[in-house]
Amino acid sequence: MRISIEKTKQPKKRPTEKELADIAFGTTFTDHMLLIDYNEGRGWHDARIVPYGPLSLQPASTCLHYGQLIFEGLKAYRARGGSLVMFRPDQNMARMNSSCERMCIPKIDEREFAEAIAKLVETDEEWVPSLPATSLYIRPFIISNDAFLGVHPSSSYMFIVILCPVGAYYKEGLAPVKIYVEDEYVRAVKGGTGFAKCAGNYAASLKSQVEASEKGYSQVLWLDGVERRNIEEVGAMNVFFVIDGEITTPELNGSILPGITRKSVIELARSWNVPVAERRIAIDELAAAHSEGKVSEAFGAGTAAVISPIGEMKWKNAVMRFNDGKIGEISQRLYDEITGIQTGAREDKFGWVHKIK
Ligand code: PLP
Ligand code: COI
Repeated sequence: MRISIEKTKQPKKRPTEKELADIAFGTTFTDHMLLIDYNEGRGWHDARIVPYGPLSLQPASTCLHYGQLIFEGLKAYRARGGSLVMFRPDQNMARMNSSCERMCIPKIDEREFAEAIAKLVETDEEWVPSLPATSLYIRPFIISNDAFLGVHPSSSYMFIVILCPVGAYYKEGLAPVKIYVEDEYVRAVKGGTGFAKCAGNYAASLKSQVEASEKGYSQVLWLDGVERRNIEEVGAMNVFFVIDGEITTPELNGSILPGITRKSVIELARSWNVPVAERRIAIDELAAAHSEGKVSEAFGAGTAAVISPIGEMKWKNAVMRFNDGKIGEISQRLYDEITGIQTGAREDKFGWVHKIK
């Protein structure tokens, strides 16, 4: 894919490494962005890296009305020896295509689009932070762009990528977070869009998130939308419990996001011969196992959050505390291994790291 590059004439002052490590997640953007247009008949075309700045959209643009909008999240790292790498970009591009399919958005060429993202990261490489626990968060997204108020799939789209240097997603860092088990609102149902990374899933989650945060919780844990009983996932993470020594996580059932960190956790644990079960976990079953002292750890896994230990979970009147509110042995081992692979400190046995330069 040919990509034109227009460099900014007004580069921003890059924050210091220390400032970057302390920046709140997703608030600082780099100097450039990537745009690729789609029109029916022409396909994806005009890939260009341009100065980061406002987009110009028609007010009738369909994404603004009906939310035909999907996104992805992945990270680039400054690895050992100064090289520049991305973590499993092929997986993000494959998931983007799965979201495209669900939302009637034309598919992308996974390899070419990953290469275009790599080019953008290289263009802004001085923004990639290098302190431990920092990275460059990459946000690709696709918006529908017809100026038309009828409800049907758009015939034009824009693929956009923006970048932000980030530290920890939660202000707690690697300290355990508090999670509220949502028993009133639901996030997704089978047949809906739960498995796709579409903007509407997140809009629908905000009310619950706000109410949980007012009660002092960082995020909510979703239960299934029908029985309101089976554990699904956390706001921006897949969820894991170590029950009787077995790493247990909800199976991919169509209503939860198939997380790439989730997949990496499962592949790593199995390679260590630690048993992993992907299955249905009812919240009352978890509470019973917890009261019998069988749940030794709980943690979330996601690109932004990496591995995030869960110290406490509130479900109705019950409060479950895990591992005395401290990070558990398996959570720590997974965090160390995943971040070690991402930054080149540990061997990349699975070939997850994509070298940009
Ligand atoms: N579940 C939801 C709802 C998410 O937003 C995310 C974040 O992307 C995840 C799970 C974790 O997915 P991944 O590990 O691919 O980032
Ligand atoms: C990610 O981990 O990439 C996410 O998408 C979480 C988020 C919505 C900020």
